[in-house]
Amino acid sequence: MKVLSAVAWPYTNGPRHIGHVAGFGVPADVFSRYMRMAGHDVLMVSGTDEHGTPILVLAEQEGATVQETVDKYNAVIVQDLTDLGLSYDLFTRTTTRNHYRVVQDLFTQIRANGYMIEQTTTTAISPSTGRTLPDRFLEGTCPICGYPEARGDQCDNCGNQLDPADLINPHSKINGEVPEFIETQHFFLDLPALAGALQQWLDEVDTAGTWRPGVINFAKGIANDMHPRAMTRDIDWGIPIPVDGWETKRFYVWFDAVIGYLSAAIEWARRLGEPDRWRDWWNDPTALSYYFQGKDNVTFHAQIWPAELLGYRGLGDKGGEPGAFGELNLPTEVVASGFLNLAGAQFSTSRGNVIYVKDMIATYGADALRYFICAAGPETQDSDFTWEEFVTRNNNELVAGWGNLVNRTASMIAKNFGQIPEPAALEPVDEELLAAVRAGFGAVGALLETQRQKAALAEAMRLVRLANKYVTDTEPFRLKGDDQRERLGTVLHTLAQAVGDLNTMLAPFLPHSSNQVAQTFGATTQFMPMPQIEQVRDLDDDSRAYPIITGEYSGTPRWESRPVTVGVPVAKPTPIFAKLDAIDPADPFGHDA
Ligand code: MF3
Ligand code: ZN
Repeated sequence: MKVLSAVAWPYTNGPRHIGHVAGFGVPADVFSRYMRMAGHDVLMVSGTDEHGTPILVLAEQEGATVQETVDKYNAVIVQDLTDLGLSYDLFTRTTTRNHYRVVQDLFTQIRANGYMIEQTTTTAISPSTGRTLPDRFLEGTCPICGYPEARGDQCDNCGNQLDPADLINPHSKINGEVPEFIETQHFFLDLPALAGALQQWLDEVDTAGTWRPGVINFAKGIANDMHPRAMTRDIDWGIPIPVDGWETKRFYVWFDAVIGYLSAAIEWARRLGEPDRWRDWWNDPTALSYYFQGKDNVTFHAQIWPAELLGYRGLGDKGGEPGAFGELNLPTEVVASGFLNLAGAQFSTSRGNVIYVKDMIATYGADALRYFICAAGPETQDSDFTWEEFVTRNNNELVAGWGNLVNRTASMIAKNFGQIPEPAALEPVDEELLAAVRAGFGAVGALLETQRQKAALAEAMRLVRLANKYVTDTEPFRLKGDDQRERLGTVLHTLAQAVGDLNTMLAPFLPHSSNQVAQTFGATTQFMPMPQIEQVRDLDDDSRAYPIITGEYSGTPRWESRPVTVGVPVAKPTPIFAKLDAIDPADPFGHDA
């Protein structure tokens, strides 16, 4: 089966914090790694999202050009996501010429089909820069409740939706100046003309019952009230609109970003030298596609992007036909998670309430972070990160559970045999453990396939506890005499087999340590393939260079029990997971020590 793993595109507006990767990155990677192991042909794509007003504002604050700013954060994000082990086939950017062309082609066909309509609207602009001030950069007094810090789009005090022109004493949040309101022309996506097709698609999804209830209910709710939505902006940073007379405007960042899933697949195929290969994931109606993101992205993935696709294919009220990209597939599932909060409050870079991925990996390791996210992340509802829970889970589950099982199994084998011992006839207790662990492939796999990653990890960890209990029950450390050596070999062989199988099952969650575990038990080649960074040239402009994340994942191990080989050398192991002391939340990385 072809499986597209479409991972949300992080903005180049700063380094990633752990809330970001809990929402899109780690869940997408766990799923993609599992699906490859299950024998599917996975294409995992994403990149940095580099347009939009916030990035312009940031560049100004940093005293850099916009290009310098996006280059800088693109590099930082590429490094962080690679270190976290996210196995992208291609992680690119929205500033490639390939992306520009795909976006413009998509727009042109949507417009030719009648779903891009020109409308006049009022917009706030900054008198000093001449730039549009997006609604959320406007602040003023709420005309309904009098709250002095209402935003242009909504009042956080009374919850009412606002029109920026209604704010009393409106001013710019960027520099305090009073905005000017002007009339301007924009292209609007004709959502009402696509509403019928969109609702029909969502009804089918709902009937199938595969999406998380919160996501499908939200998607159906917003589909009941659709208005045309502006897809262009009065701004100079963004993708040009390929229409005469529109030279001073650019596409709205969200119009172009979601098209990245398609353009990245095309870029991947072009880099492979098989420029049509992307069609296997996009034009074959049996191909599956999963879109991973935080819940704040659902409107764009369950409404705007499907509407763009329907409009491109000519499937709305106005008819039409697809352009050269053909009949592009709609999402199989929009997999949205909640937010990971930091001790009850939302992550906020500006308020310093933030934990960066980079610091976590440098101090505690990628898999300790991945473990926390998989075990306690915001899969279907918001969850909290606390240092206390991070330490507890690390110490009790990862170190005392899995790490201990690996460590004592390898130590006992090293000490007594120096290699995987031969088993004699298995006793029922041995058979029972092996059967229970083998059954995990079915149980854990079924949960991973249906996006229930927390339950999947919990089941794998239950089997880890079972294996630890087997050690307690069989007491291999007491099997000392010559007459017990055969039984000792059988028990340790059984344990080595259980550890090997459990390592396979945990590998989607903990790819880095799965390689160490495999090595401990004698593997000489990499078990789980890892992503890498490559410097490349823009395919359509040789003067532009950028880093991509890519990888060779064809050596991914299969999701199945692999018999351990008698005689493979096992040396005294070095512990793979580290026990942590209590962490001071005021100085979690020991910088002040
Ligand atoms: N940059 C957006 C965010 O961080 C996500 C964009 S996903 C995309 O919320 F598909 F639209 F690119
Ligand atoms: Zn109000």
